[in-house]
Amino acid sequence: MSKKIVALGGDGVGPEVTEVACGILESMGLGLEILKPPGGESAIQEFGSALPEETRKLCLEADAVLFGAAASASLPILVFLRWKMDNFVNIRPVKYYPGAQTPLKSAEGIDFVILRENSEGFYPWGREGAIAQLAERWPEWTDACLGRRFSDYGEGAFAIRIITEAGARRMMKFACDFTEQRKMTGRPGKLTCVTKSNVLHQSCGIFQRAAEAEVKLHPGLAYEHYYIDDTCRRILRYSRDMDVIVTSNMFGDILSDEAAELVGGLGLAASACLGGQTPYFEPVHGSAPKYAGKNVINPTAMILSAMMMLDHFGMTDAARALEAAVAAVYREGKHLTQDQGGRATTTEFGQAVQRKLG
Ligand code: IPM
Ligand code: MG
Repeated sequence: MSKKIVALGGDGVGPEVTEVACGILESMGLGLEILKPPGGESAIQEFGSALPEETRKLCLEADAVLFGAAASASLPILVFLRWKMDNFVNIRPVKYYPGAQTPLKSAEGIDFVILRENSEGFYPWGREGAIAQLAERWPEWTDACLGRRFSDYGEGAFAIRIITEAGARRMMKFACDFTEQRKMTGRPGKLTCVTKSNVLHQSCGIFQRAAEAEVKLHPGLAYEHYYIDDTCRRILRYSRDMDVIVTSNMFGDILSDEAAELVGGLGLAASACLGGQTPYFEPVHGSAPKYAGKNVINPTAMILSAMMMLDHFGMTDAARALEAAVAAVYREGKHLTQDQGGRATTTEFGQAVQRKLG
């Protein structure tokens, strides 16, 4: 059964890494139909939009979207893929491939996953405003701690962090099912919920209680809860004890960059966004404009995001073959990019992976 994929490079280095990943997928002979409609920075001049209507339609009809990176030009693409499509789960694996640069003495055996809630919290954009607006519309509100009104502050801005019962519930259901599936592949089957419920009693409280309620329905899982600050420390010190971390949007954004550094940095950090209309797959890194067009950026994060797409399609053998090819290139260390202490270009790294796929 052929799958239809829309590849959108986006901005900065996005198109370069997407090109490499698509080349590898095409060479694997999986019968994938990869469409490359206009999108991102380069589409604005010709079509007046980073996400022309035709491209948008193709994304809605596709089985998956591969997305490179967004600078401000491609933000409408991100808004569409993440929030309009309601892809509420962001899966961010943290797995060490020997040969990748790590600040640890040894990162051998690090293999956990951060599940970032992707639809609530401080995101999406636009949930901010001036304090004066709040003071005008909500004059009687006082904070529980000091009894201040909004009109008691000087000039400033607010941001709203929304956590809903339904949003937390669907996230926890996904997290428990996901942890159970990993357990079947030999992982410990442990879910770690991360909040700041000691301060944010209500919003983080909903998130934590949803985890506790869902875990009760999955007796085969181990469960623990840590605060976000404590987790930042634990991720560095006890990274091998982690299996699946579930957390709210911005905590997940921050933790996933921190964790990526342990296993090679953002050049290797892949992600999948699922749960909505069309799943999409993108590197955790941004558009890195200063490296754009230089053919030096590490395309591993995009290649491993494509691997996650194959897994999502149930093409397990192809996914494992691609992972093994990437792992072999790291293990041998002869064709690594600059960020990994090597001298290979973006395209040379891609070619090395393709040769391993034979
Ligand atoms: C990420 C990125 C994005 C985010 C930016 C580009 C908006 O940092 O995917 O982690 O904050 O979610
Ligand atoms: Mg981020």
